[in-house]
Amino acid sequence: MKKCITILGSTGSVGKQTLEVIQNEPESFEVIALSAWKNVDLLKTQIDQFKPKYVVVKDDKLAKELKNKLANKNNCNILYGDYGLSKISTIKEIDMVVVAIAGMNALKPVIEAINAKKEICLANKEIVVSAGEILMEEAKRNDIKIVPIDSEHSGILQCIQPQFYNNIEKIIITASGGPFYNLKEAALDTVSVEEALNHPNWQMGNKVTIDSATLMNKGLEVIEAYWLFNISLNKIEILVHPQSYIHALVQYEDGSMIAQLSNHDMRIPIHFALHYPKRVKSNLSRLNLAKIGQLTFKKLDSKRFPSVDLCYEAIRQGGTFPAALNAANEVAVNAFLNQGLKFKEIINIVSKVINKHNNKTNPSIQDIIYQDRETRRLTSQFCTENKN
Ligand SMILES: NC(=O)c1ccc[n+]([C@@H]2O[C@H](COP(=O)([O-])OP(=O)(O)OC[C@H]3O[C@@H](n4cnc5c(N)ncnc54)[C@H](OP(=O)(O)O)[C@@H]3O)[C@@H](O)[C@H]2O)c1
Repeated sequence: MKKCITILGSTGSVGKQTLEVIQNEPESFEVIALSAWKNVDLLKTQIDQFKPKYVVVKDDKLAKELKNKLANKNNCNILYGDYGLSKISTIKEIDMVVVAIAGMNALKPVIEAINAKKEICLANKEIVVSAGEILMEEAKRNDIKIVPIDSEHSGILQCIQPQFYNNIEKIIITASGGPFYNLKEAALDTVSVEEALNHPNWQMGNKVTIDSATLMNKGLEVIEAYWLFNISLNKIEILVHPQSYIHALVQYEDGSMIAQLSNHDMRIPIHFALHYPKRVKSNLSRLNLAKIGQLTFKKLDSKRFPSVDLCYEAIRQGGTFPAALNAANEVAVNAFLNQGLKFKEIINIVSKVINKHNNKTNPSIQDIIYQDRETRRLTSQFCTENKN
């Protein structure tokens, strides 16, 4: 039987690649709903191709623009805003929600989808970082498995043998190091947006690419792994592996280590997540280890990239601390991309903001949303002051 799917964020990097996987397997999947935010033109192309019953855009104005473009040619319901995202995450016709929105706007629809007992394939990391405890509790209460799409977490899931879960000694997440890992400290002062967006191995959305350059992405992935796999923080490590063919490793207490390898192609973890818990044949590219020849590794230099330690500290503090870290980072990255903030200032500002954070333990969703909003306001202020 076909799986009926909603894709939140179908016009983004992960969303488009999810549609590529689905397009090649029409016997397995049917697209019921898609969401974009502003990219109405691409959404129209996707509607023409996949014929969803529902689509969502940011607001009323874009909904009207899309309606005019479609010229009533098909029976697609056009919704907008938070209501629209909630609706397409919970409708009866769907079995699964693929969460490929970047940022915190995914939180509410994902919680609603879990409560509506939909399978969740999760690319978005910001909501796990900010509200991991609540998300995992909701998933447990509803007996829903959250299947990660992020390549490192997909790798961990594939390396964990459930019968040996209690024998895990540590989990290792690999990091390419991003475009600046070998750059001299002083040179980091002057790197441009274009240079920071030039990831050595992966083509991704802008936010996650900048996070890879600051290594904040790895820190956020540690927090994500902590919640998704219920593993204590001192058992999660980062290892620099510039070629990025190994995505994760799990070390067992008998001395064996299991690694997951594949090409740099997000369609591989997406395909795995869509079919989970089955493994299904795909025509996606295979790794040619003989051609690659060498895989290299080095210890992470966390002094040069302090974002990683900030993330470990955030999870140790708990409460609303990780949400504040995530919000400060999103705003600072945006200021780097669009408002001329210097690259090195991204993490300096995040650090300053979270040093001022008034932590609230055992937060509710409302507390997290409130702290997220307040932290964004404070960070914008810091970014503006930094510019002046
Ligand atoms: N890209 C990767 O390879 C990769 C790998 C691992 C994990 N991830 C994670 O996956 C998530 C998506 O990443 P991405 O690189 O695919 O991002 P992206 O290319 O920036 O795409 C984001 C998607 O979300 C929509 N969107 C943007 N702002 C929104 C809002 N406020 N509310 C609702 N929808 C909104 C965008 O719509 P418009 O296009 O209309 O603006 C687009 O469809 C991120 O959390 C990222 O960390 C990505």
